[in-house]
Amino acid sequence: MDVILKTNDLTKKYDDRIVVDNLNLEIRKGEVFGLLGPNGAGKSTTMNMICNIIKPTLGSVEFMGKDLKKNSKDLMKHLGFIPQDLAIHNKLKAWENVELFTSLYGIKGADLKKAIDESLDYVGLLERRNDYAGTFSGGMKRRLNIACAIGHHPDLLIFDEPTVGIDPQSRNFILDKIKESNRNGATVIYTSHYMEEVEAICTRIAIMDNGKIIATGTSEELKKLVVDDTDSITLEEVFLTLTGKKLRDI
Ligand SMILES: Nc1ncnc2c1ncn2[C@@H]1O[C@H](COP(=O)(O)OP(=O)(O)OP(=O)(O)O)[C@@H](O)[C@H]1O
Ligand SMILES: [Mg+2]
Repeated sequence: MDVILKTNDLTKKYDDRIVVDNLNLEIRKGEVFGLLGPNGAGKSTTMNMICNIIKPTLGSVEFMGKDLKKNSKDLMKHLGFIPQDLAIHNKLKAWENVELFTSLYGIKGADLKKAIDESLDYVGLLERRNDYAGTFSGGMKRRLNIACAIGHHPDLLIFDEPTVGIDPQSRNFILDKIKESNRNGATVIYTSHYMEEVEAICTRIAIMDNGKIIATGTSEELKKLVVDDTDSITLEEVFLTLTGKKLRDI
């Protein structure tokens, strides 16, 4: 079992408040790893530290066997991050958005043109390539956000709540694309507070609450922590039992 990414005692404090607390995660090559937790659990802070966007207070990230901070120039081109807050520019056309992000990875000329069209095609926006991102619906913006992160063919794709606030059709489209990327060889980290999404696409799941990982395993393994008959319980109920909290207010 190859480990593609590992966090070593990863910790983030804001003033005296610990929002990510000594995280030791191991992501295996080829898996779809789900990070499931309620609002404020520390999921985005963790993903932002893993992607070298936020500086950890303590601890480190090892990616492809190397320290991410010390080798960020080499390693960042193997990583694609789809942030929770849309990173796209409304005043740029769809293709210009993808060009902006893809060119950051040193892709140029004919390769860049090809990568732009492939990425837009992948998320079903090729026909809208010349439209301004500002004219897109919420679901289309989410899809463009994904196109911006995949043009350089990363080995690890990190999705931070990519389906929030969009219709079920766009949501299913995005989930299908994540599965397709995984089948094509990418390892995936998928962050969400939607239990049913995590259960549908993730091979292993970590439950996070108050900056800590409460439990890690397959959906079946997590259910087994609580009951013998795993058909009698949902992951949502497992979460409630382990943390005393609801995953989200319905
Ligand atoms: N820049 C910051 N300064 C102070 N506190 C912060 C900062 N960023 C995040 N926090 C706090 O850290 C905690 C974790 O936030 P984070 O955004 O990582 O949670 P999350 O699990 O991604 O939640 P959500 O599901 O709502 O996206 C929250 O209590 C948040 O208020
Ligand atoms: Mg978040």
